[in-house]
Amino acid sequence: MVVPVNEPLLGDRELELVSQCIRTGWISSSGRFIEEFEQRWAGYCGRRHGVAVCNGTVALQLAVAALDLSPGDEVIVPTFTIISCATAITLSGAVPVLVDADPETWCMDVDQVASKITPRSRAIMPVHIYGHPVDMDALGALAARHELAIVEDAAEAHGSELLSGRASEARWRRCGSFGRMSCFSFYANKPVTTGEGGMVLTDEEALAQRLRSLRNLCFHPGRRFAHDELGFNARFTNLQAALGVAQLERIDEIVARKRWIGRSYVERLTGIPGLQLPVERSWAHNIYWMFGVVLDEATGLDAAAFAERLLACGVETRPFFLGLHEQPALRRLGLFAGQRYPVAERLARQGLYLPSGLALSAEQIDTVCAAVREVLA
Ligand SMILES: Cc1ncc(COP(=O)(O)O)c(C=O)c1O
Repeated sequence: MVVPVNEPLLGDRELELVSQCIRTGWISSSGRFIEEFEQRWAGYCGRRHGVAVCNGTVALQLAVAALDLSPGDEVIVPTFTIISCATAITLSGAVPVLVDADPETWCMDVDQVASKITPRSRAIMPVHIYGHPVDMDALGALAARHELAIVEDAAEAHGSELLSGRASEARWRRCGSFGRMSCFSFYANKPVTTGEGGMVLTDEEALAQRLRSLRNLCFHPGRRFAHDELGFNARFTNLQAALGVAQLERIDEIVARKRWIGRSYVERLTGIPGLQLPVERSWAHNIYWMFGVVLDEATGLDAAAFAERLLACGVETRPFFLGLHEQPALRRLGLFAGQRYPVAERLARQGLYLPSGLALSAEQIDTVCAAVREVLA
């Protein structure tokens, strides 16, 4: 039996609430669970408004669309992230401007952001990679100084926290509570999953209204089937929201379980030569969305060879992101010519993540760690 890279943990409560949708016929984009899910998730993240959409990629598209960027405006984004960040920016007519990753947290290197700010800069899109928060205080100060909007991609950071504010007033804040908007994914490998799904959070009432309009084709409020603006069909369903509501009833348990999985791996894998593990900065609570490891080149293995050997031992893995600057689809648009980001390039070649789903058992974690030790022995 292979240990799968992800297996969701769904229970009777999910079945009960989804069944309610089926029994009552509220299966589409109206129904009480949608608003309940939006309000509960916004509240959990310390935000005023939530707009649920069909996936995390579309959440980013709506958020960037709501910034009303002009062609040639620039958005600063880490190169080490999913392509969804770049598609949201390029589809809006704006240009992604890249920064390299921090070699330890794997998040955007905040120190590099200042050197990428130009008169065309309009926004920054930090991404909390694999569940470790970006240093949002440092980034927020920079954004404020240059009047840049922050759109937080917290797709992988459900329940991750960071200590924010000056020493005496510092308090733990959840990822997704910073910037003008924050975006989430609820894909099946996310701690809270609705199968497919996403959400944009904001504290601004008018922005929330705009996002709701963009989500539903920008129907004119006074005349059905009249449209003043081109929108999206990004609607979310009551069926999916029912799944989400059931999980938010036990969100603390879900986050605690993710952190337990992360700590269990750290305990068992610390000290293996040539194997870099995820970190947790003193100001951060990492939820270890996916437990990533990076191999030193001195092991003689790259991530692809390591993955093959782990699979032979019954352990499924996934490679790390390929940097945006190495994406053929983006290079063909004429982007990033000649640009190099050595940290992201190394992570892409040498990094992979181990099984990390909520259904992972202690025995499976032992199996995975034994396989890692055997391959690297
Ligand atoms: C950082 C990040 N942003 C956005 C997304 C896109 O989410 P979705 O798969 O729901 O479209 C993902 C997906 O895993 C992600 O990891």
